[in-house]
Amino acid sequence: MLMAERRIDPDDKVAYTWEELAAYYKGKYNKKEIEAYWETCTAPKGKGKGKAKGKGKDKAEPKGKAKAKAKTKAEPKGKAKAKAKAKAKANKETKPAGSFKVCVCGGAGGIGQPLSLLMAMDPNVGDLRIFDLNVAMVPPAGVAADLSHLERKCTVIGHVMEVGGKPVDHLEECLKDCNLVLVPAGVPRKPGMTRDDLFGINADIAKGIVEACAKHCPNAVLGMIVNPVNSVVPAMAELYKKKGLDPMKIVGITTLDVVRANKFVGEIAGKNPNYVNVPVIGGHAGVTIMPVFSQDKVAATIASEKIPDLDKHVQNAGTEVVEAKGGKGSATLSMAYAGARFGKAVLAGLSGRKRTECAYCKSDITDLPYFTQKVVFGDGGITKVLPLGELNEYETKRLDEAKAQLKTEIDTGLKYAEANSLA
Ligand code: NAD
Ligand code: LMR
Repeated sequence: MLMAERRIDPDDKVAYTWEELAAYYKGKYNKKEIEAYWETCTAPKGKGKGKAKGKGKDKAEPKGKAKAKAKTKAEPKGKAKAKAKAKAKANKETKPAGSFKVCVCGGAGGIGQPLSLLMAMDPNVGDLRIFDLNVAMVPPAGVAADLSHLERKCTVIGHVMEVGGKPVDHLEECLKDCNLVLVPAGVPRKPGMTRDDLFGINADIAKGIVEACAKHCPNAVLGMIVNPVNSVVPAMAELYKKKGLDPMKIVGITTLDVVRANKFVGEIAGKNPNYVNVPVIGGHAGVTIMPVFSQDKVAATIASEKIPDLDKHVQNAGTEVVEAKGGKGSATLSMAYAGARFGKAVLAGLSGRKRTECAYCKSDITDLPYFTQKVVFGDGGITKVLPLGELNEYETKRLDEAKAQLKTEIDTGLKYAEANSLA
C-alpha cells in the first residue's frame, strides 16, 4: 500500500492515509483486520489517487450509491459488520443533532459577534449563549436580541458581567449543560506586538472563564481562540488536570492557519481553495505554524523553490492583518469563519458524525506535551490524536525549528499552571 495514498473510510466518508486509518482503529481491531478494511476503502472520486479530504468528499458519487458501494465492499470482510453494530450503538448513545448548547465567551467582541452569527446558523445548535463584559462594544443582550431574529431554531440569550467580576460566580445559568464553549474573550495584539506579549493579561481572562466551565459545564469542549494559544492552552489544560478534569477538553483553535494555507495554495496553484486541505501542525505563532504542503495533492504540485515563501506567508498572515488594521485589532472575520468551522466539527462529532480537523491539544505524538496535529472529533470531543504522517526533508527541518520555539511557549503555560489553581 502506498503511504501517501488516501482512501475514504465508509464509516465517516473522510479520506485518510493508511497510517491515519491504522492509528484510528488500533486497539479496536488487529492489524490484519485493519488491512482488510483498508482494502475495502475506496480512493476519493475525482482526479487520481491521494485526494485531499475536501476534494474527495465534494467529488464523491451520489451519496446513496457511494454508501451502497462502501457497504457491499466492506461487509464481506466480516469485521465491518461488528463495526457497523458498534457504530449504531454509539449513535444511540450520542445526542441527536440540533440540541446542543453553545456559549461564546467574548461574544460581543470583534470575533465573538460574527462567530456567534455563524454558530446560530448551525443546525446542531439549539441554545446559544453570548457572554461578555459590561464594557464590551455592544451589550451582549443586544447581540443576542439581534441574532434571535434569524429564522433559525436556536434560542439566543445574552449574559453580562461587570468588569472585575468572577465568571464562576455569574455564569451558572449561562454555562450549565453547555456542550461547547468558544473563547475569543481576550485582548488582541497591536502592530509591533507578538502574541506572547498578550500572555500576562489574557491568561488571567482565560483562567476566569475556564474556572467557571470547570464548575458549571465540566464535560463541555472548550475551544480556546484567545492568544497566545501556544501558552494559554497548556496553562488551562494543566489547571483542568490539577482539578481532576479531562485536559483533552481544552482545545486550541488553530483552524485559521489551515484556512490561510488552503487559500494561499489555491491562489498560487490556480485552484479552488475549497478543494485544498493542507494540514498545519505545530502551534499558532511565528515559526511554530508549520504547514505540511507535501500532504495535500494540490499543494504538493507547487515548485519546491516557492515553498519557503509560501510557508512564511502562512506564518505571517496574522501579522499582516494586524498591520493592515493599523492598531484597531487583529483578524476577526476570517477567525470567526475558522472558529465556526471548528465549532461545527465539534458538534458534528458530538452528534455521532466524526470529523477530522487540525487542533492544538495535549498530545503524545511528538516529544512535546502539547502540539497541533490532526485530531478526530467524536462523542465527547477529541477521540483520537492522529500521527503527523510523512514529512519531506524541508518539513523535517521545519519541525525541529517549530518544536524549539513551541517548547518555550509551552513552558510559559506550564509555569502558570504550577503557580495557579482553579477555585
Ligand atoms: P476584541 O477586543 O474585539 O473582543 C474581545 C472581547 O472579549 C471583548 O468584547 C471583551 O469585552 C471580551 N472580554 C474581555 N475579557 C473578558 C472576560 N473576562 N469575560 C468575558 N469577555 C471578556 O478582540 P478579538 O479581535 O475578538 O480577539 C480576541 C482574542 O482572539 C485575542 O486574544 C486575539 O489575539 C485572539 N485571536 C486568536 C486567533 C486564533 O487564530 N486563535 C485569531 C484571531 C484572534
Ligand atoms: C491570527 O493569526 O490572526 C491571530 O492569532 C491574531 C494575531 O494576533 O495575529
